[in-house]
Amino acid sequence: MSARVVDELAGRTVSVRVPATSANLGPGFDTLGLALSLYDELTVTVLDRPGVTVEVHGVGEGEVPTDESNLVAHSIAHVFEHYGIALPGLHLVAHNVIPHGRGLGSSGAAIVSGVMAAKGLLEGVVELDSEQLLARATALEGHPDNVAPALFGGLTIAWVTPSGPQHKKLMVHRGVSPLVFVPEHTMSTALARSLQPESVPHADAIFNVSRSALLVAALVQSPELLLAATEDRLHQNYRASAMPETFRLVTLLREEGYAAVVSGAGPSILVLGSDPVQRLSAARLIEQRSDTPWQALMLAVDFKGATVLTHPVQTPPSL
Ligand code: HSE
Repeated sequence: MSARVVDELAGRTVSVRVPATSANLGPGFDTLGLALSLYDELTVTVLDRPGVTVEVHGVGEGEVPTDESNLVAHSIAHVFEHYGIALPGLHLVAHNVIPHGRGLGSSGAAIVSGVMAAKGLLEGVVELDSEQLLARATALEGHPDNVAPALFGGLTIAWVTPSGPQHKKLMVHRGVSPLVFVPEHTMSTALARSLQPESVPHADAIFNVSRSALLVAALVQSPELLLAATEDRLHQNYRASAMPETFRLVTLLREEGYAAVVSGAGPSILVLGSDPVQRLSAARLIEQRSDTPWQALMLAVDFKGATVLTHPVQTPPSL
């Protein structure tokens, strides 16, 4: 079936803003995620000629592709194709701040940027609701734990059903203050996932079920339980050999009473403070005890998730 050409897309411009995320949060492997107050921004303009061009500023500039193989561009094209609509010529301008390859959801954010841009561009042609946005983003990312918080903000529980991925968004207790430590080196999610065993002991599964249930209560209502609630036996130990310094520092922070976990597939570290003062002492500890430079990001929980703004239609530029 050939794609439908939609003339009213001409001249449309949309702006998108997407938060960084931290997935897993310790025990909630492939399930829990938190949106963080660090944002990638994107503007997409429909051109009067075919083809896709991409301008990247900030993180990834000079490194990521600037043609249709760019992950944001590919994600826009995926949504258009899914709904059988011909992709018009597009110019993308990305301003990125989310570090790449550090476990802070940069590829999830790129995918969500593309899916949200497509939603804005297709306004009045196809209406994408939350379930469809999550379905498209998860189809591109492979698992929903990063894309759900990037789309919806807050703390998200994501699960997969035969009819597609689902999510529940929860508001986080005001006392929870996320602190992220970012190393200079990167980690590939594919490598981290290759270190996971096919099966795990039943006792470890029970251990994680109890901690992840407790974690939801700790994040929403009882931050004083965060240390006990962030224990994990399903992924962090298996991946330790690929990021030894991360593992050493997470262990050290936890011994000192901080609720520290590997952020996503690593190598960044997320500390969930139950008190903003804790963040300063955790940052001092990392400064004293790390072998390599780590950047400390004092962040907040983002409660809004991805936003898209549609600009008034203008004469399509050729660029
Ligand atoms: N849950 C995922 C993992 C997050 O840890 O592999 C990174 O994409």
